[in-house]
Amino acid sequence: MSDSARRRLIGPDDAVDADVVGDTRLLDPQDTLEDDVLGASLRPRTFDEYVGQRIVVENLRISMDAAKRRGEPLEHVLFYGPPGLGKTTLAALIAREMGAAMRPTSGPTLEKPKDVVGVLTALEEGDVLFIDEIHRLGRVVEEFLYPAMEDFQIDFVVDRGAYAKTIKLPLKRFTLIGATTRAGMLSAPLRERFGILHHLDYYEIADLERIVTRSASVLDVPIDAPGAHAIAARSRGTPRIANRLLRRVRDFAEVRAEGSITSEVAEEALAREGVDECGLDRLDRAFLAAIVDNYDGGPVGIAAIGATLNEDTETLEDVVEPFLLKSGFVVRTAAGRKATPAAYRHLGKQPPHGTQPRLL
Ligand SMILES: Nc1ncnc2c1ncn2[C@@H]1O[C@H](COP(=O)(O)OP(=O)(O)OP(=O)(O)O)[C@@H](O)[C@H]1O
Ligand SMILES: [Mg+2]
Repeated sequence: MSDSARRRLIGPDDAVDADVVGDTRLLDPQDTLEDDVLGASLRPRTFDEYVGQRIVVENLRISMDAAKRRGEPLEHVLFYGPPGLGKTTLAALIAREMGAAMRPTSGPTLEKPKDVVGVLTALEEGDVLFIDEIHRLGRVVEEFLYPAMEDFQIDFVVDRGAYAKTIKLPLKRFTLIGATTRAGMLSAPLRERFGILHHLDYYEIADLERIVTRSASVLDVPIDAPGAHAIAARSRGTPRIANRLLRRVRDFAEVRAEGSITSEVAEEALAREGVDECGLDRLDRAFLAAIVDNYDGGPVGIAAIGATLNEDTETLEDVVEPFLLKSGFVVRTAAGRKATPAAYRHLGKQPPHGTQPRLL
């Protein structure tokens, strides 16, 4: 959920994070305070514990081995992909593997040139500078990063006009790891300065089952294979959601089912939260219903859907739509979003005449 959407939940002038008051969407792939606090113990601490994304991990291992052999820091790395798939986790694992310290910061935090200069000059040889939401860096700040990334130096211009001169400040050699959910918003010059780019994709159900099973054992809650499957199947391909659903199901299991998680327990617990068997929640279904009922199945623009649902379009584009596209309930056309026959069927409606039936 975007910052503005969070704030809107509790009024425009009150910037308190809505997570604190417990008003978040169970299937929101973005980070909440609860995830940070309760999820810390579930974060993989070694590459061996990091499930899935096999090709990305294999390639990273090769890059890290090569850098170690040369006695150099790893090249700058960019991770992009939807929220909650393990970008921050990978950055921490790389730092650990390289025997380096991780210095986390984020695009919105590095507001002024002096912020970024302060961060860069404080880096030690080999440090990993992690910039989350790197697409939100300001233009001026970004320009400071170019020489820092390329030549490990910062260029200052002092004085003006005829007396202007550039002063170069050397930096220690470091690795920048950038993470973004919106690679398209990154400027080309910044993107080109990353030697290693990896896209993280949604996880397979089998991988999510392994994550749920491992997390359950960390949390010391008994779970059987069908129980892990039921949670994995509703997790929208996203480990953060899998862990969050597991915690919710565990609470229910403790109160209602003597603490053990079976598929019946998981299904009942999640149905109570409005999460259906495809991992869609009320907002997803409202999104589909808006297209089907208000716009005759589409095509319709995202702004119109946003207005119908009274949700901001950024939330819909970042949080709701990617999974609906991925699971084939919605397609994007040049003219806007369209509901597929699968969406009609999911809502218990007859697809309009002339559309091909489509199996899920
Ligand atoms: N490959 C994985 N194996 C096991 N657990 C994982 C994996 N990837 C992510 N997780 C779990 O999911 C949580 C979210 O991952 P992480 O914070 O790294 O996501 P992210 O991609 O950085 O998200 P955002 O875009 O919101 O910053 C982690 O705390 C961890 O518990
Ligand atoms: Mg992150």
